[in-house]
Amino acid sequence: MEQVVRAFVERFGHRPAVVVRAPGRVNLLGGHTDYNEGYVLPAAVDRAAWVAASPLDRPEVYVMALDLGEEARFPLPVPPPVGGWADYPRGVAWSLMEEGFPLVGMEAVLTSEVPVGAGLSSSAAVEVAFAWTWRVLSGLDIDRTRLALLCQRAENEYVGVRCGVMDQMASVWGRADHALLLDCRTLEVEPVPLPEGVAIVVMDTGVRRELAASEYNRRRQECEEAVRILSRYLPGIRALRDVSPEDFEGVQHHLPEVLRKRARHVVTDNARVLGAVEALKAGDLERMGWAMRRCHESLRDDYEVSSPELDRLAEAAWSFEGCYGARLTGAGFGGCVVALVDADVVGPFQAHVSRTYEQAFGRPPTVYVCRAADGAGTVEG
Ligand code: GLA
Repeated sequence: MEQVVRAFVERFGHRPAVVVRAPGRVNLLGGHTDYNEGYVLPAAVDRAAWVAASPLDRPEVYVMALDLGEEARFPLPVPPPVGGWADYPRGVAWSLMEEGFPLVGMEAVLTSEVPVGAGLSSSAAVEVAFAWTWRVLSGLDIDRTRLALLCQRAENEYVGVRCGVMDQMASVWGRADHALLLDCRTLEVEPVPLPEGVAIVVMDTGVRRELAASEYNRRRQECEEAVRILSRYLPGIRALRDVSPEDFEGVQHHLPEVLRKRARHVVTDNARVLGAVEALKAGDLERMGWAMRRCHESLRDDYEVSSPELDRLAEAAWSFEGCYGARLTGAGFGGCVVALVDADVVGPFQAHVSRTYEQAFGRPPTVYVCRAADGAGTVEG
């Protein structure tokens, strides 16, 4: 917070009118279920994007990205995308104006603590931070869910990534010490308390895969294709969300093998999320942790979005007494594994997974011990 204000004062010569914080998120359960209109269980984390900004009396935007030492400048309405980080603020301005919201120009400084490309939604945090900043500076009447949808639209249609709505919803709706049960069809959010004494440990493989975006889009198409075929036998289904594990048993033989595996993952994971929420409410971390492990195995074997590095980290976590469960988080292919760990043994856990990973791949993972945090908001101004 102080850092972004100081940088703003140095760059623009006066204090910012507003300072906004928007967190990254970690997804505990429900992998690739959001774009299938299903259930997810993310939590916003205590790593956030920060924007300090003041309005301008002309339709122009200046953004200094403090961490990169770069500046971007663009007019309103925004021209087409240019590639790179500036497409996030540009995309947000684009989607707000597309939906008829009048925007003021601004000068801003952006900084972020969310590691980029790790599966902690660094891009959603930046989008939500800018959308919130405009909401304040332009006095826009937009509720949290609409704001998340506007940010998702920016990413889908301006940046060109077909992500679901989970990341932006988690960033706006986060609640300290809670996970969020999110219904990605109705967009209902239910905060679920995380039991005391459990730590969220995120382990970054350090691997970034260029393939991730194209494979992600391919998985989406495969799911859509599976729905198209299954709807011949289950009339009325609109998405895999509508298929129960029991229904699936009866019709799965109609699907070619790859589509059968993709659909099986989504159908079983939706059921896992709902079961795990009941477990969490009952304080049953063992059951919650077991669901995370089953989710990883399903993402590995049926959805095929894991990697040797992610598998190694997950296995190292599973084998540690005091770790309730672990799974790859985010889109997969690279990025992070998330584990729920008894807070008393986080130190030894970290040493164990780091050693095991280093033995296999010659370098340790980066480990973040996170707390579930509140969603986006104005911190000053
Ligand atoms: C990425 C996307 C999300 C979601 C996850 C997979 O993080 O941005 O919308 O689909 O992958 O669960």
